[in-house]
Amino acid sequence: MCGIIGYVGEENATPVLIEGLKRLEYRGYDSAGIALLHGGEISVTRSAGKLVNLEQLVERNPQNGSTGIGHTRWATHGRPSEQNAHPHRSGNLVLVHNGIIENFISLKHRLETEGYRFVSETDTEVIAHLLESYMKNGCSLQEAMRAAEVDLHGSYAVAALCVTEPDVIVTTRSGCPLVVGRNEQGSFLASDVTPLLVHTREVVFLEDGDIALLTPSQISVLGANGEELTRETVTIDWDAEAAEKGGYDNFMLKEIHEQPQVIVDTLRGRYNYETGEADLPDLAMTAEELIAARRIWIVACGTSWHSGLVGKYLFEEMIRKPVQVDIGSEFRYREPMIQKDDLFIAISQSGETADTLAAAREAKRRGARVLSIVNVVGSTMARESDGIIYTRCGPEISVASTKAFTGQIMALYLLALHVGRVRELLSAEEGRWWLDQYTALPGRVESVLKLEPEIKKIAEKYYSKSNFLYLGRGINYPIALEGALKLKEISYIHAEGYAAGEMKHGPIALVDENMPVVVVAPRDRLYEKTVNNLMEVRARSAPVIAFGFEGDEELQRVADVVIHIPAVHPLLTPILFAVGLQLLAYHVAVLRGLDVDRPRNLAKSVTVE
Ligand code: F6R
Repeated sequence: MCGIIGYVGEENATPVLIEGLKRLEYRGYDSAGIALLHGGEISVTRSAGKLVNLEQLVERNPQNGSTGIGHTRWATHGRPSEQNAHPHRSGNLVLVHNGIIENFISLKHRLETEGYRFVSETDTEVIAHLLESYMKNGCSLQEAMRAAEVDLHGSYAVAALCVTEPDVIVTTRSGCPLVVGRNEQGSFLASDVTPLLVHTREVVFLEDGDIALLTPSQISVLGANGEELTRETVTIDWDAEAAEKGGYDNFMLKEIHEQPQVIVDTLRGRYNYETGEADLPDLAMTAEELIAARRIWIVACGTSWHSGLVGKYLFEEMIRKPVQVDIGSEFRYREPMIQKDDLFIAISQSGETADTLAAAREAKRRGARVLSIVNVVGSTMARESDGIIYTRCGPEISVASTKAFTGQIMALYLLALHVGRVRELLSAEEGRWWLDQYTALPGRVESVLKLEPEIKKIAEKYYSKSNFLYLGRGINYPIALEGALKLKEISYIHAEGYAAGEMKHGPIALVDENMPVVVVAPRDRLYEKTVNNLMEVRARSAPVIAFGFEGDEELQRVADVVIHIPAVHPLLTPILFAVGLQLLAYHVAVLRGLDVDRPRNLAKSVTVE
């Protein structure tokens, strides 16, 4: 939810912190703050609203110090306000926190009886007072952090500094991501690698319970008894430029246009054309284990859940295995009848989504093999899974997920091919045929991207409508859901996605001339049925926006406007239609004058349930 950053070194920390926060702002953006330690004093600057407010404050009142921490917040406890913004102070120390302290009320009562006065509405403030109370009793900052961990229930990544220990930042995590790295100018910490890339490519992902001590010249990671731990250093090969907008008006448009490259990158080195097989070395499952898997479970949230639903249609058709798709928050609190030997696939862009992580842990506890399809290298999900397929999309900054969705579906295509070949449901020749289709997809997505001017015209015609209905069938039913989700999250227009065959069972009551109906209608075996649904819509005077195949003249007769995408095998249509619907949602939101990268009330990474 929130983003934290820290720097201790030889340079002025302010620009490092502000630049770092800019790259973390997608994690939450209702307030921000920094704290610097200089000459035995801590200065704290905080501001409600977007980061630019903090930047202006800092410009007007510059602070010095080469040890500092910063935070960009997405409110969980307490309103977005300056008072609730981090860093929070207690006595001689300040800290920043990402996550939720579940037992903060009981801790607050305990600390109040010790005489602490609370000045914010946050759960974070209890951590500050807790550390202070341990330090008052003789602990070092690091010892206080270890002691506080016993008291704290919930999820957190915390970074703290104090006057009595200059040139040191102490940081720890439990359930929230935290990464550290250094260069010759000092040591850095952050919620993820994005802000670190301009400083170093060699980073360490901390594990739950690790305490890291950062000084200008070194980073030590300590275990439960203060023993020094060795944690693997990971080299990140993301280009720092990849996190910039690269000439586009915003990250969302840039990320939509990156999708051909995402397909190329996700396929790269992962197949053998000669044998018609996919090559997934990190799957960590033998052919026998894949064959033995009785059932496939796919669990995810939001857009990633939609890619999971695409996976269901794909797997059932290509590899003839029963597939159950669940939303993370539902799976974790049910009594899912998952068995040992079932294959559990968690899909997540961030690899930190609390509900998906909890579901994966539950599946593991019940004996299933956990495979994750994840974008963020070294994320908690990736580290906790038995096998991984990274989607290689690079950082996705825009809150609305676009390229990650495409990367996830490509990973599912590879997995379907792999299992299909292993189970001998597909011959080498068929495998090669699928590979030809997969490798042709980037060019086909380019063709859809070229339709942007036409799609923009549709947006211009309908952007002022208040409700949209999206329809699709089969493997494109999840694409109708995804199209509606994209529209609602960035344009704030009410939009519903429905299986076209379900329309008569209720939603048709809503259909009138004010309700544009967006339909995804490939020329597949369900085409005629979808066209019939469109006739029903037309009969109620609703404007019909159809996405169909090139050369489909019939669609023209039942729709007000048609976008023609390249004709491909039905199982390969979802990405192409999704790109068209992303562009539609994008242009509607832009025409409504909205900040598409940072929609209200949303955060990029949902690390609490
Ligand atoms: C929608 C969106 C969210 C995420 C969801 C899961 O555009 O971004 O619905 O898809 O929060 O996030 P990950 O994939 O990081 O687990």
